[in-house]
Amino acid sequence: MRMRKKPNLAVRMERCRNLLISEPEKYRGGWRQLKPDGKLLRLELGCGKGRFTAETARQHPEDLYIALERVPDAMVVAMERVLELGLRNVFFIDGDAARLRDYFAPGEVDLLYINFCDPWPGLKHARRRLTHEQFLVLYRGILRDSGEIHFKSDNTDLFEWSLYQFPKAGYELSQITRDLHAQGIQGVMTDFEEKFHLQGVPIKRCVAVKQPMDPEPEFQPIAGPDAARRGNTDPSLKQSEQ
Ligand SMILES: C[S@@+](CC[C@H](N)C(=O)[O-])C[C@H]1O[C@@H](n2cnc3c(N)ncnc32)[C@H](O)[C@@H]1O
Repeated sequence: MRMRKKPNLAVRMERCRNLLISEPEKYRGGWRQLKPDGKLLRLELGCGKGRFTAETARQHPEDLYIALERVPDAMVVAMERVLELGLRNVFFIDGDAARLRDYFAPGEVDLLYINFCDPWPGLKHARRRLTHEQFLVLYRGILRDSGEIHFKSDNTDLFEWSLYQFPKAGYELSQITRDLHAQGIQGVMTDFEEKFHLQGVPIKRCVAVKQPMDPEPEFQPIAGPDAARRGNTDPSLKQSEQ
């Protein structure tokens, strides 16, 4: 997401500092200490400005909700929304989905949301899509058995392509719909979802449930665009992105 630089970002982040987990690696395996009576641990990837984050967490005060976002200018809006509502069950990570295994221990996450992730059109950048098989294998390492991924998108090509990725990485698909709101609004909308819905774009959604795999697929660390900018020399990245 391209965003204009927010004025006073540092001041605004400081106001929300109690919501930000600045060293997520230190919570690996211990996230539930943030809400010891919490039932599920819900994790949202790329929360953006957090309309979905704040409303879903508000509707589920019994659960712990962690939102990950790598653009602080967007995340600060999400944090302000949570602050405004006075929610106590939501925390934020300013980080990259490619590093999730550094942040969470095996089986620690019950439910993972991927809402309107960047489609990265063209095969050249397919590995950056958050529903690429390698990302789905990465998520297996932090999801509990039968843990779920809830995926929504406006993008037909990305959605149809993703439906092939999930089974390859050992997930069973259900609740597949290509027009979620055909009979009226269903569930909590995200910021992007509302925009697309108002433009008349049908919203696609599915649920993917983690199944046992024997052997477990081999996990290959993912070098995201951030790593590429830092001059990462991962051969798999170079090969796929030349
Ligand atoms: C198209 S926006 C959608 C935002 C929000 N989910 C919504 O539906 O309104 C995608 C968001 O994912 C974030 N994002 C993309 N790749 C990411 C990654 N690897 N790690 C963390 N956040 C990422 C972007 O910064 C952006 O805010």
